[in-house]
Amino acid sequence: VERKLNFSAGPATLPEPVLRRAQAALWDLDGTGIGILEHSHRGKAFRAVMDRTTQLIRDVAGIGDEFAILYITAGATHHFTMVPLNFLGEAETPGSCDICHTGVWSAKAIVEARRFGTVHLACDGSPAFDAIPPIIRYSASPRYVHYTSNETIYGTQWPAPPPNPPAPLVCDASSDIFSRPLALADHGLIYAGAQKNLGPSGISLVIARNSFLAARRPGLPALADYQSYVTEGSMHNTPNTFGVYVIGEVVAWIRDQGGLAALGERNARKAAVLYDFLDHSKLWRAHARPGSRSDMNITFRGASPALEAQLLARAEQQGMSGLPGHRDVGGIRASLYNAFPEDGVHRLVQLLHEIEREQ
Ligand SMILES: Cc1ncc(COP(=O)(O)O)c(C=O)c1O
Repeated sequence: VERKLNFSAGPATLPEPVLRRAQAALWDLDGTGIGILEHSHRGKAFRAVMDRTTQLIRDVAGIGDEFAILYITAGATHHFTMVPLNFLGEAETPGSCDICHTGVWSAKAIVEARRFGTVHLACDGSPAFDAIPPIIRYSASPRYVHYTSNETIYGTQWPAPPPNPPAPLVCDASSDIFSRPLALADHGLIYAGAQKNLGPSGISLVIARNSFLAARRPGLPALADYQSYVTEGSMHNTPNTFGVYVIGEVVAWIRDQGGLAALGERNARKAAVLYDFLDHSKLWRAHARPGSRSDMNITFRGASPALEAQLLARAEQQGMSGLPGHRDVGGIRASLYNAFPEDGVHRLVQLLHEIEREQ
């Protein structure tokens, strides 16, 4: 089977060497004669996988012991609830948080946080969501400041974390984790669903500062309490063993690519090829404004719906898949995560040029 160029926003394309190794590990993990799906999570072989994955994450992202690395069997959406549940205080004395509203994902985080306390919008990019708002107004004493480092649907990305937060930052990094060096300063907690830059869906990686976890609400049910994942090594119940394995292989691949700085440069270069075309085109226009543009999800519109339909049809014919924009916003979205090949962006731009010449 000839594989397609997969522009999907997630689950998304994974590095070929990782898929090949995972294929082999399904049959036999590390010469144990048992496949990764069949190993007990309490056994030596899987423990080695989990320890290796955690160490690789620490090494590749430069994460010290002041942070815990947790694997939670749920997507990023789970943390929209878990974060306020843990950190907005007890039911009798609910606290407040600041949320930077930059699109569809922060909107969902806002809805959930409001169930637990007061939400102050520190900035608001609605209704266009075409830029990270330049002015941030924090409230007086939030418990934390939440932001979405990359808005997967609108295609905007914070060039750097919100500056001078009055409380620890909590970051939904689902769609740009490990796509560039990780900013840890000021952060209390970073969470990411794995299915874009890390591995399969249904598992999230959490990087949590121990001192921030100490401020959580006491008496929570174990599976809703971040601290229980620390205390029990993400093994209160059976973790997503395959997910942890794939994340480890992906992070080893990141290391072999030269690490986060090298990937960051490559990702910026890949994205620039497409933005450069869009900025010079008479038919197409990038949605996000310079300074707020995502290197991961490039969203753009054609001069007419017919033109967009033409691009999608011809892209499919040429083996390029996953280009329709999110169902809520339409248009075109090219997701260029870590594993997306540089040559794939050139193929898309070549097709865009062809269509432009024909008009
Ligand atoms: C930024 C962001 N946050 C949260 C989510 C939701 O993740 P999940 O579907 O794994 O809950 C997504 C999309 O998958 C996303 O892109």
